[in-house]
Amino acid sequence: MKPLVYVTRKLPEEIVARLKENYEVDMWSKEDVQVPREVLLEKVQEADALLTVISDRMDEEVFAAGKNLKVVANMAVGYDNIDLDSASRHNVAICNTPDVLTDTTADLAFALLLATARRMIEAAEFVKQGEWKSWSPMLLAGTDVHHKTIGIVGMGKIGTVVAKRAAGFDMEIIYHNRNRHEVAEEMLGARYCSLDELLGEADFVVCLAPLTKETKGMFQREQFQKMKKDAIFINASRGPIVNEEALYEALQAGDIAAAGLDVFNEEPIGADHPLLQLKNVVALPHIGSATKETRIAMMETCCDNLEAIFADRAPKTLVNKDFLSYRR
Ligand code: GLV
Ligand code: GLV
Repeated sequence: MKPLVYVTRKLPEEIVARLKENYEVDMWSKEDVQVPREVLLEKVQEADALLTVISDRMDEEVFAAGKNLKVVANMAVGYDNIDLDSASRHNVAICNTPDVLTDTTADLAFALLLATARRMIEAAEFVKQGEWKSWSPMLLAGTDVHHKTIGIVGMGKIGTVVAKRAAGFDMEIIYHNRNRHEVAEEMLGARYCSLDELLGEADFVVCLAPLTKETKGMFQREQFQKMKKDAIFINASRGPIVNEEALYEALQAGDIAAAGLDVFNEEPIGADHPLLQLKNVVALPHIGSATKETRIAMMETCCDNLEAIFADRAPKTLVNKDFLSYRR
Protein backbone atom coordinates (compact mmCIF):
# COMPACT_ATOMS: atom_id res chain seq x y z
CA MET A 1 0.00 0.00 0.00
CA LYS A 2 1.22 3.50 -0.82
CA PRO A 3 1.86 5.79 2.14
CA LEU A 4 -0.81 8.40 2.77
CA VAL A 5 0.25 12.03 2.55
CA TYR A 6 -2.05 14.72 3.89
CA VAL A 7 -1.39 18.14 2.34
CA THR A 8 -2.72 20.99 4.51
CA ARG A 9 -3.15 23.54 1.72
CA LYS A 10 -4.30 23.26 -1.89
CA LEU A 11 -1.17 23.01 -4.03
CA PRO A 12 -0.73 23.29 -7.82
CA GLU A 13 -1.63 20.31 -10.03
CA GLU A 14 1.97 19.60 -11.03
CA ILE A 15 2.97 19.07 -7.40
CA VAL A 16 -0.07 16.94 -6.65
CA ALA A 17 0.73 14.85 -9.73
CA ARG A 18 4.26 14.29 -8.51
CA LEU A 19 3.01 13.27 -5.05
CA LYS A 20 0.47 10.87 -6.60
CA GLU A 21 3.24 8.90 -8.28
CA ASN A 22 4.34 7.59 -4.89
CA TYR A 23 1.55 8.21 -2.40
CA GLU A 24 -2.12 8.25 -1.69
CA VAL A 25 -2.78 11.97 -1.53
CA ASP A 26 -5.43 13.72 0.50
CA MET A 27 -5.46 17.52 0.45
CA TRP A 28 -7.29 20.42 2.09
CA SER A 29 -9.40 21.96 -0.66
CA LYS A 30 -8.58 25.64 -0.20
CA GLU A 31 -5.55 27.68 -1.15
CA ASP A 32 -6.32 30.81 0.87
CA VAL A 33 -7.97 29.32 3.94
CA GLN A 34 -6.09 27.44 6.61
CA VAL A 35 -7.10 23.86 7.36
CA PRO A 36 -9.31 23.90 10.50
CA ARG A 37 -7.65 22.46 13.56
CA GLU A 38 -10.24 19.69 13.94
CA VAL A 39 -9.71 18.60 10.33
CA LEU A 40 -5.94 18.49 10.83
CA LEU A 41 -6.39 16.46 14.03
CA GLU A 42 -8.64 13.99 12.21
CA LYS A 43 -6.48 13.68 9.09
CA VAL A 44 -3.25 13.16 11.03
CA GLN A 45 -4.68 10.00 12.60
CA GLU A 46 -4.35 8.13 9.30
CA ALA A 47 -1.52 10.01 7.62
CA ASP A 48 2.01 8.66 7.16
CA ALA A 49 3.23 12.11 6.20
CA LEU A 50 2.07 15.70 6.32
CA LEU A 51 2.98 18.51 3.97
CA THR A 52 2.36 21.63 6.05
CA VAL A 53 2.59 25.41 5.88
CA ILE A 54 3.63 27.89 8.57
CA SER A 55 0.11 28.59 9.81
CA ASP A 56 -0.31 24.94 10.88
CA ARG A 57 0.52 24.59 14.56
CA MET A 58 2.21 21.22 14.97
CA ASP A 59 2.23 20.50 18.69
CA GLU A 60 2.05 17.55 21.08
CA GLU A 61 -1.66 17.08 20.44
CA VAL A 62 -1.06 16.65 16.71
CA PHE A 63 1.95 14.37 17.10
CA ALA A 64 0.18 12.24 19.72
CA ALA A 65 -2.75 11.81 17.31
CA GLY A 66 -0.47 10.88 14.39
CA LYS A 67 -0.01 7.18 15.13
CA ASN A 68 1.45 6.44 11.68
CA LEU A 69 3.12 9.77 11.16
CA LYS A 70 6.75 9.51 10.02
CA VAL A 71 7.52 12.87 8.53
CA VAL A 72 6.32 16.46 8.34
CA ALA A 73 7.58 18.42 5.34
CA ASN A 74 7.03 22.08 6.28
CA MET A 75 6.95 24.40 3.27
CA ALA A 76 9.11 27.13 4.83
CA VAL A 77 12.62 27.73 6.07
CA GLY A 78 11.23 28.69 9.48
CA TYR A 79 9.76 25.96 11.69
CA ASP A 80 8.64 27.88 14.75
CA ASN A 81 5.15 26.46 14.10
CA ILE A 82 6.47 23.01 15.04
CA ASP A 83 7.28 21.60 18.49
CA LEU A 84 10.53 19.83 17.59
CA ASP A 85 10.94 18.03 20.93
CA SER A 86 7.49 16.59 20.63
CA ALA A 87 8.16 15.54 17.02
CA SER A 88 11.38 13.77 18.03
CA ARG A 89 9.72 12.01 20.96
CA HIS A 90 7.08 10.70 18.57
CA ASN A 91 9.76 9.65 16.12
CA VAL A 92 8.65 12.08 13.41
CA ALA A 93 11.17 13.66 11.06
CA ILE A 94 10.72 17.40 10.48
CA CYS A 95 12.00 18.88 7.22
CA ASN A 96 12.04 22.48 6.03
CA THR A 97 12.88 24.27 2.76
CA PRO A 98 16.03 26.35 3.22
CA ASP A 99 18.40 27.34 0.39
CA VAL A 100 15.87 27.43 -2.46
CA LEU A 101 14.32 30.60 -0.99
CA THR A 102 17.45 32.41 0.18
CA ASP A 103 17.96 34.82 -2.73
CA THR A 104 14.24 35.38 -3.24
CA THR A 105 13.68 36.30 0.40
CA ALA A 106 16.73 38.54 0.41
CA ASP A 107 15.40 40.33 -2.70
CA LEU A 108 12.13 41.02 -0.88
CA ALA A 109 13.86 42.19 2.30
CA PHE A 110 15.99 44.58 0.28
CA ALA A 111 13.02 45.73 -1.81
CA LEU A 112 11.14 46.46 1.43
CA LEU A 113 14.11 48.46 2.68
CA LEU A 114 14.18 50.47 -0.56
CA ALA A 115 10.41 50.91 -0.63
CA THR A 116 10.35 52.17 2.96
CA ALA A 117 13.35 54.50 2.58
CA ARG A 118 12.07 55.98 -0.68
CA ARG A 119 8.38 55.98 0.34
CA MET A 120 7.50 54.07 -2.79
CA ILE A 121 4.15 52.67 -1.66
CA GLU A 122 2.95 56.07 -0.44
CA ALA A 123 4.19 57.67 -3.67
CA ALA A 124 2.52 55.09 -5.91
CA GLU A 125 -0.77 55.59 -4.04
CA PHE A 126 -0.35 59.36 -4.41
CA VAL A 127 -0.19 59.06 -8.20
CA LYS A 128 -3.06 56.57 -8.39
CA GLN A 129 -5.26 58.82 -6.26
CA GLY A 130 -4.70 61.68 -8.73
CA GLU A 131 -2.97 63.83 -6.14
CA TRP A 132 0.09 64.66 -8.27
CA LYS A 133 -0.29 68.33 -9.08
CA SER A 134 3.24 69.42 -9.87
CA TRP A 135 6.88 68.56 -9.42
CA SER A 136 7.80 69.98 -6.02
CA PRO A 137 11.23 70.30 -4.44
CA MET A 138 10.51 68.17 -1.39
CA LEU A 139 7.59 66.12 -2.68
CA LEU A 140 7.72 62.66 -1.08
CA ALA A 141 11.37 63.11 -0.27
CA GLY A 142 12.66 59.97 1.40
CA THR A 143 16.04 59.01 2.72
CA ASP A 144 19.14 57.68 0.94
CA VAL A 145 20.08 54.02 1.08
CA HIS A 146 23.47 54.08 -0.65
CA HIS A 147 26.50 54.74 1.56
CA LYS A 148 24.42 54.30 4.71
CA THR A 149 24.96 51.67 7.39
CA ILE A 150 22.88 48.51 7.37
CA GLY A 151 22.67 46.54 10.61
CA ILE A 152 21.69 42.93 10.00
CA VAL A 153 20.30 41.07 12.99
CA GLY A 154 20.55 37.37 12.15
CA MET A 155 23.39 36.68 9.74
CA GLY A 156 22.21 33.33 8.42
CA LYS A 157 21.98 32.41 4.77
CA ILE A 158 19.38 35.09 4.06
CA GLY A 159 21.20 37.74 6.09
CA THR A 160 24.38 37.02 4.17
CA VAL A 161 22.81 37.55 0.76
CA VAL A 162 21.04 40.68 2.01
CA ALA A 163 24.54 41.88 2.96
CA LYS A 164 25.67 41.09 -0.58
CA ARG A 165 22.90 43.29 -1.98
CA ALA A 166 23.84 46.02 0.53
CA ALA A 167 27.46 45.87 -0.65
CA GLY A 168 26.21 46.60 -4.17
CA PHE A 169 24.61 49.77 -2.78
CA ASP A 170 27.94 50.81 -1.23
CA MET A 171 26.52 50.38 2.26
CA GLU A 172 28.58 49.82 5.34
CA ILE A 173 27.59 46.44 6.77
CA ILE A 174 27.42 45.61 10.45
CA TYR A 175 25.76 42.53 11.89
CA HIS A 176 24.77 40.78 15.05
CA ASN A 177 24.44 37.02 15.23
CA ARG A 178 24.86 34.14 17.67
CA ASN A 179 28.10 33.23 15.89
CA ARG A 180 30.67 35.19 13.94
CA HIS A 181 30.33 34.85 10.18
CA GLU A 182 33.86 34.85 8.80
CA VAL A 183 32.84 34.54 5.15
CA ALA A 184 30.66 37.66 5.36
CA GLU A 185 33.44 39.49 7.17
CA GLU A 186 36.07 38.59 4.59
CA MET A 187 34.02 38.76 1.40
CA LEU A 188 31.75 41.69 2.22
CA GLY A 189 33.64 43.57 4.89
CA ALA A 190 30.81 42.99 7.35
CA ARG A 191 31.67 43.97 10.92
CA TYR A 192 30.40 42.04 13.93
CA CYS A 193 28.85 44.09 16.76
CA SER A 194 26.88 43.61 19.94
CA LEU A 195 23.17 44.21 19.49
CA ASP A 196 23.40 47.52 21.35
CA GLU A 197 26.25 48.74 19.16
CA LEU A 198 24.35 47.76 16.06
CA LEU A 199 21.20 49.56 17.22
CA GLY A 200 23.18 52.71 17.91
CA GLU A 201 25.04 52.75 14.60
CA ALA A 202 22.72 51.40 11.92
CA ASP A 203 20.64 53.59 9.63
CA PHE A 204 18.70 50.47 8.66
CA VAL A 205 18.11 47.73 11.22
CA VAL A 206 17.10 44.60 9.32
CA CYS A 207 15.76 41.64 11.29
CA LEU A 208 16.35 38.26 9.65
CA ALA A 209 16.75 36.08 12.73
CA PRO A 210 14.68 32.92 13.18
CA LEU A 211 12.01 32.95 15.89
CA THR A 212 13.32 31.05 18.91
CA LYS A 213 13.02 31.30 22.68
CA GLU A 214 16.02 33.64 22.56
CA THR A 215 14.72 35.98 19.84
CA LYS A 216 11.06 36.18 20.89
CA GLY A 217 10.34 39.77 21.98
CA MET A 218 13.90 40.83 21.20
CA PHE A 219 12.74 44.26 19.99
CA GLN A 220 11.08 46.20 22.83
CA ARG A 221 10.69 49.95 23.32
CA GLU A 222 14.21 50.02 24.81
CA GLN A 223 15.72 48.61 21.61
CA PHE A 224 13.89 51.13 19.44
CA GLN A 225 15.02 53.95 21.73
CA LYS A 226 18.61 52.87 21.22
CA MET A 227 18.25 53.32 17.46
CA LYS A 228 18.95 56.60 15.66
CA LYS A 229 15.92 58.87 15.35
CA ASP A 230 16.12 58.63 11.56
CA ALA A 231 16.65 54.84 11.56
CA ILE A 232 14.39 52.56 9.55
CA PHE A 233 13.43 49.17 10.94
CA ILE A 234 12.81 46.24 8.58
CA ASN A 235 11.41 42.87 9.66
CA ALA A 236 11.34 40.03 7.14
CA SER A 237 11.64 37.05 9.49
CA ARG A 238 8.94 36.50 12.12
CA GLY A 239 6.53 38.94 13.78
CA PRO A 240 6.85 37.77 17.40
CA ILE A 241 10.51 38.84 17.48
CA VAL A 242 9.06 42.34 17.80
CA ASN A 243 6.79 43.76 20.48
CA GLU A 244 4.33 45.46 18.13
CA GLU A 245 2.97 47.87 20.74
CA ALA A 246 6.51 49.03 21.45
CA LEU A 247 7.14 49.46 17.72
CA TYR A 248 3.93 51.45 17.35
CA GLU A 249 4.88 53.73 20.23
CA ALA A 250 8.42 54.16 18.88
CA LEU A 251 7.10 55.14 15.44
CA GLN A 252 4.57 57.55 16.90
CA ALA A 253 7.00 59.12 19.34
CA GLY A 254 9.65 59.56 16.65
CA ASP A 255 12.17 57.21 18.29
CA ILE A 256 12.67 55.82 14.78
CA ALA A 257 11.64 57.15 11.38
CA ALA A 258 9.81 54.29 9.67
CA ALA A 259 9.29 50.55 9.49
CA GLY A 260 8.94 48.04 6.67
CA LEU A 261 7.22 44.87 7.83
CA ASP A 262 6.59 41.61 5.99
CA VAL A 263 5.58 39.76 9.16
CA PHE A 264 3.34 40.36 12.18
CA ASN A 265 2.62 38.94 15.63
CA GLU A 266 -0.59 37.31 14.49
CA GLU A 267 -1.14 36.81 10.81
CA PRO A 268 -3.14 37.75 8.86
CA ILE A 269 -3.72 41.31 10.08
CA GLY A 270 -6.80 43.33 9.15
CA ALA A 271 -7.08 46.92 7.93
CA ASP A 272 -7.79 48.06 11.50
CA HIS A 273 -4.34 46.98 12.77
CA PRO A 274 -2.77 49.92 14.65
CA LEU A 275 0.49 49.79 12.66
CA LEU A 276 -1.45 50.22 9.41
CA GLN A 277 -2.77 53.57 10.65
CA LEU A 278 0.75 55.01 10.52
CA LYS A 279 1.99 56.67 7.33
CA ASN A 280 5.56 55.63 8.03
CA VAL A 281 4.80 51.92 7.94
CA VAL A 282 5.09 49.80 4.81
CA ALA A 283 3.29 46.50 5.37
CA LEU A 284 3.37 43.37 3.24
CA PRO A 285 1.45 40.09 3.71
CA HIS A 286 4.39 37.74 4.50
CA ILE A 287 5.58 37.36 0.91
CA GLY A 288 9.34 36.99 1.45
CA SER A 289 9.65 33.80 -0.58
CA ALA A 290 6.67 34.47 -2.84
CA THR A 291 7.86 34.12 -6.41
CA LYS A 292 6.40 31.46 -8.67
CA GLU A 293 9.80 29.85 -9.17
CA THR A 294 10.67 29.75 -5.50
CA ARG A 295 7.30 28.58 -4.22
CA ILE A 296 7.43 25.66 -6.68
CA ALA A 297 11.02 24.94 -5.63
CA MET A 298 9.91 24.87 -1.98
CA MET A 299 7.16 22.37 -2.82
CA GLU A 300 9.64 20.26 -4.78
CA THR A 301 11.96 20.28 -1.76
CA CYS A 302 9.09 19.00 0.36
CA CYS A 303 8.54 16.20 -2.17
CA ASP A 304 12.28 15.36 -2.17
CA ASN A 305 12.27 15.13 1.61
CA LEU A 306 9.22 12.86 1.69
CA GLU A 307 10.80 10.58 -0.90
CA ALA A 308 14.02 10.34 1.10
CA ILE A 309 12.19 9.41 4.31
CA PHE A 310 10.08 6.71 2.63
CA ALA A 311 13.17 5.34 0.86
CA ASP A 312 15.00 5.24 4.21
CA ARG A 313 17.53 7.78 3.02
CA ALA A 314 18.59 10.84 5.01
CA PRO A 315 16.49 13.78 3.84
CA LYS A 316 18.37 16.79 2.49
CA THR A 317 16.94 19.30 4.91
CA LEU A 318 16.13 17.49 8.14
CA VAL A 319 15.56 19.89 11.04
CA ASN A 320 15.32 17.64 14.12
CA LYS A 321 18.46 15.62 13.56
CA ASP A 322 18.04 14.13 17.04
CA PHE A 323 14.93 12.29 15.88
CA LEU A 324 17.31 9.65 14.53
CA SER A 325 18.34 8.80 18.09
CA TYR A 326 14.72 7.96 18.89
CA ARG A 327 14.39 5.76 15.86
CA ARG A 328 13.36 2.26 16.71
C1 GLV B 1 8.55 31.83 5.50
O1 GLV B 1 8.40 32.72 6.28
C2 GLV B 1 9.52 30.80 5.68
O2 GLV B 1 9.95 30.57 6.82
O3 GLV B 1 9.89 30.18 4.70
C1 GLV C 1 17.32 31.70 8.33
O1 GLV C 1 16.19 32.16 8.29
C2 GLV C 1 18.30 32.02 7.31
O2 GLV C 1 18.80 33.16 7.35
O3 GLV C 1 18.54 31.18 6.42
